[in-house]
Amino acid sequence: MAPAERDVSVSERDVGVSERDVGVLLTGVGKRYDIVSAFAQHATVVAVDPNPLAPAQYAAHHRCAVPPIDDPAYVPALRELCDRHGVRAVIPLTDLDIEVLARARVAGELPALVPAPEIARATFDKYEAHLLLARLDLPSPPTVLPGEPVDRYPVMVKPRQGSGARSIHRADDARDAEFFVGYVQEPTMVQWLMDGPEFSIDCLSDLGGRCLNAIPRTMIESRGGESIKGTVIADRELITLGRRVVEALGVRGPCTVQAFRDREIGLGITDVNTRFGGAFPAPMYAALPGRTYPELIVAMAAGEQVEPHVGEFRAGISFTRYFWQLELDEAMSPTGRDIVEPPGPPPPR
Ligand SMILES: Nc1ncnc2c1ncn2[C@@H]1O[C@H](COP(=O)(O)OP(=O)(O)O)[C@@H](O)[C@H]1O
Ligand SMILES: [Mg+2]
Repeated sequence: MAPAERDVSVSERDVGVSERDVGVLLTGVGKRYDIVSAFAQHATVVAVDPNPLAPAQYAAHHRCAVPPIDDPAYVPALRELCDRHGVRAVIPLTDLDIEVLARARVAGELPALVPAPEIARATFDKYEAHLLLARLDLPSPPTVLPGEPVDRYPVMVKPRQGSGARSIHRADDARDAEFFVGYVQEPTMVQWLMDGPEFSIDCLSDLGGRCLNAIPRTMIESRGGESIKGTVIADRELITLGRRVVEALGVRGPCTVQAFRDREIGLGITDVNTRFGGAFPAPMYAALPGRTYPELIVAMAAGEQVEPHVGEFRAGISFTRYFWQLELDEAMSPTGRDIVEPPGPPPPR
């Protein structure tokens, strides 16, 4: 089945002519309007999402309906969009199709910015990720499967394939741990509760797995797994950790590494997502001019060589995020009208 284009006439609206004649395909765009519109400044953007009302698709030049990820027609549909729109980079915005895209990349079907399929699979399962990190001599908090001995409490009972901070419970003794393992109705693991500040490191790697940059930030406030307030920091230890992780894993494209600095055991990695993290604006603000991650990705997709510049960014800036929306008409097309014109701070009086 050929992917259906949703209302091309509206989506082909004037969002600026791309600097380079490069297409970028973003999958599972959901609410991530910031990412889609940042790419749309530099490339022709095709957005796909299973939800016909996914708001972020309206920031793209083209928005398309494709079969579900587990449908054998998913990759061929993306392939067709790549051919139609000159797409040179396919970038997943959720965890759900990273492994499918990784296999399609190996098969030469899609120019996806994802790691090898085994790495995609291992980082989707937090227990597998723990084993992988330990094998690579990267710090991961002590983690066991339910029923295995635990050497100290408190612990966190976490779903192995969780996301968005779903179903994560603190347990202060063996009885509580056993209860939560039964209560969370999916495979779990039992991890040392990290006592100390939590950080995220937003990294970008080139197509050969070299780290181009690693930008750490604090996690001042998160909601539903998404960081909504934070500060970019020039923490050498975290920059080095981010680079070591993405290079050891052979990441291609964006990757977010989450770590705690525990008072007792120091840094421990609790989550690795081989995609853009939940706080996309942080590395956007922090990047030096011309070196935002979307710009570097578009440059690489155009065949340009990008030199590593790990640690070169502006620290000290903070972000605080809020919701916005689009008005849609009866045909579910954006009207272009907003509740205030233009959005932003009030004009000086
Ligand atoms: N070992 C841990 N110790 C303390 N807090 C944790 C631990 N693991 C996870 N958390 C908390 O739960 C949140 C979500 O966990 P995470 O492992 O990032 O899973 P996901 O984001 O995939 O749901 C983290 O941001 C952190 O605040
Ligand atoms: Mg996380």
